[in-house]
Order: sequence, then C-alpha cells, then structure tokens
Amino acid sequence: MDTLIINRVVPAIRMLTSREKIMTARFDNRKEILSTDSEEDLYDLNFINGSASILVVDETTDPDEIIDDLKVKLSAWFDSRIGHPDYIFMKGIGLVAIAKNAALLDVLLGAQEELVAAVSGRVQDKIAIVTGGAQGFGGGIAELLYAQGANVVVADLNEEVGRKMVDKLNSKKQTNQAYFIKANVVSPESVEDMITATVKQFGGLDVIISNAGILRAGGLDEMTPEIFSVMTDVNYKGYFLCAKYASAVMKVQSQYRDDYFTDIIQINSKSGLKGSNRNFAYAGGKFGGIGLTQSFAMELMPYRIKVNSICPGNFFEGPLWSDPEKGLFVQYLKADKVPGAENIKDVKAFYEAQVPAGRGCRVIDVVRAIFYVMEQEYETGQAVPVTGGQNMLN
Ligand SMILES: NC(=O)c1ccc[n+]([C@@H]2O[C@H](COP(=O)([O-])OP(=O)(O)OC[C@H]3O[C@@H](n4cnc5c(N)ncnc54)[C@H](O)[C@@H]3O)[C@@H](O)[C@H]2O)c1
Repeated sequence: MDTLIINRVVPAIRMLTSREKIMTARFDNRKEILSTDSEEDLYDLNFINGSASILVVDETTDPDEIIDDLKVKLSAWFDSRIGHPDYIFMKGIGLVAIAKNAALLDVLLGAQEELVAAVSGRVQDKIAIVTGGAQGFGGGIAELLYAQGANVVVADLNEEVGRKMVDKLNSKKQTNQAYFIKANVVSPESVEDMITATVKQFGGLDVIISNAGILRAGGLDEMTPEIFSVMTDVNYKGYFLCAKYASAVMKVQSQYRDDYFTDIIQINSKSGLKGSNRNFAYAGGKFGGIGLTQSFAMELMPYRIKVNSICPGNFFEGPLWSDPEKGLFVQYLKADKVPGAENIKDVKAFYEAQVPAGRGCRVIDVVRAIFYVMEQEYETGQAVPVTGGQNMLN
C-alpha cells in the first residue's frame, strides 16, 4: 500500500505544486505524524512552525482520489495565495514537505538549520539515481552530478564504500543532497525499493543512470554457464529492472506536467558496439542493452522520457581495470589476451595504442555525454560513443 501511494502520489504532488521551478519534496510518516488527525494538531508537532502553510486532503487510501482532491484544492490555493503549501497532509498516510531544495526540506521536517552553500549548476535540484555509484565510473558520475547541483542517490551493493561516497558529497554542504540506498540491480524487489526510497527522500525522479555492471573476461573454454548468467543478470536484466521501475514514476510526473522531460541513461560500453575477443559474455549483454535502449525509447518518448546509452571506452584509471587483484589488466595478463605481454604495463600500453586520442576514457568525458543527452529534447534511443575515436559509427 505504501509503495503504491508513495510512487503514485508523491511525484504528482511534486509536479502539481511546481510552477516555474520544479520543486523537491519529502515524504514522512513518523508515528507522531500518523497519530495526528487535524491541521490544528499538526501545528503541535515540534517541527512545524506557526507560519507554515498546510493543505489537508480528504481521507482516503485511493491514490486517484487523493490526486483528484489535491488538484481541486491546489487550484483554489494558487488562485488565492502566493506560493505553494509547505506541507500536504494525508491523514493516516503521512506528510509531504515541499521546498525548492533538499536543504530546506530538512528544515521543514525538523532538522537543525545549517549553513549551506547555494550552487547553480547544470542539473540544479534534479533528482538522479546512479546505480553502482559507490566507485569507478558511477562514483565519478555521482560526484560530478552532485557538484552541478543534483540530488544524487548512490545506489550500490557495497554499503561501506557507497556511504563513504555520500558522506564525502554531503560534507560540501550544498543545498542539494546525496543519499545512499543499498540496492541490488538484479533483484526486482530491491530495484523497486530503491525507486520508492528515492521518491520518499526527494519527491520524484528525473534521471536514472543505470551504471552498475560487472566484467569477467574469458573465452569459450573458460566461461562457465554460471558466470555467464551472473554477468547477464547484472549487465542486461539489471538495466531492464531499472528502466521498468524508474519509468513508472517518470510517467506519473509526465502526466501532471506536460513540458517536463526525464532521462533513462544506460552506461554501456564500446563493447556494446563491437565484439570483444574472449569477452563475449560482457559484449553480448552490452549489445543487448542497446536493443533495450532503442525499444524503451520508442515506448517512452510519448511520456517525454528519453532513453539513451552512453558507450565509454576503457577507463584505465578505474578499479575495473586497475584493481591489483581482480582488475582487467591482471585478468587479461592471465588470460593471455595480449600476445607477448609480460606485465601489466605491457597490457596497458597495448590498449592505449588502440585509441586515436592516445589515452583512456575519463569520468568527465562520460559526464559531458550525460549532459548532452539530458539537455537536448530532440533525440532518444541513441548509443553515444565516448571512445577517443576508437569506435566510429557507420
Ligand atoms: N571501466 C571501464 O573501462 C568501462 C568501460 C566502458 C564501460 N564501462 C561500464 O561502466 C559501468 C561501471 O563500470 P566501472 O568500471 O566503474 O565498475 P566498478 O567495478 O569500478 O564499479 C561498479 C560498481 O557497481 C556496483 N555493483 C556491482 N554489481 C551490482 C549490483 N548487482 N547491484 C548494485 N550495484 C552493483 C559495485 O559494488 C561497484 O561499486 C559498467 O556498466 C561498465 O560496464 C566500464
């Protein structure tokens, strides 16, 4: 019940209370809120101050009835007052706080007011999920989106590293915030929970970066059916699950705001554009991802949800390549993928020599492609190469 109401109603509230600027919202159903039943009692909650404005919707658990009631009441509200309500109260369900940024939501819900730095970035106050956002490309993407003003959800299996990333970002004390959610992209329940937790925390979803991915190299003789399945689950099925649950919330937003575009972005690979020797389990899943992107794009453009893949070249500095135990340099050396290579340096030099730009791909290269994809409104279903010229489209 909670998931349905949160994912249907909160994004609608976010859009219906927004005028020029798209708002940020937070859902709160603490016990003391649930045991409150009138506007007057709400003011007794220690965090609501007397000058705050509250809109109360009629008591029901039907999301459509809540939204219908809300539309009528908000229309009257905007006719007679300046600005949006600070809170929407749904008796027995919870309270939704509404503000222009995440730091102000904290204040509305009782956290101490802190000094925060106002930024004005390229993705200011947008709500972004980055799966696999604890480290590697995902970690770098989370950092740069945060620096450019987004509220960033780092969703990762690795709780320790993911929380560290979020703490690092929040220590910058900007008006936008980062938030960690433990998630496993191969599990439908976990992905749905990740989306719901994001909506609770920030009020909706503007972009999901489906980045979590794994790579185990190996030719036909080495690749076991089990490893093949695990890789396909993370790299291929994980993207489907992210698109499925993210698009449900994005569709609600598009229903209540007909000029608003959102994005589903898959971090694919140059191996999604060209076969990869003794690496077919990875390349096959990535090729498949582009098929999903093209098909989702057709299905979702009527809702102004753009769907694109970004296909980076090799990120040599990241842990996928450089981890001293499990990294690809070590794996490729052991698998004899590079003829004559005697050490890791030889393997790296071999790969760098294949790139016209003469270097590996960096996080900033990928983030520039993310901004391109998000900022334009007239393209979808594309696979955007970021390969230093290594892969050229036909
Ligand atoms: N590293 C490269 O050279 C390179 C090149 C092109 C594309 N890519 C793609 O970029 C993406 C990120 O790769 P990376 O190199 O940064 O990887 P990485 O191994 O450094 O990081 C991956 C992150 O994903 C998380 N993760 C793994 N499985 C997960 C799951 N089931 N659910 C949730 N989180 C999970 C890990 O905990 C980790 O934090 C992948 O999709 C990869 O295919 C990487």
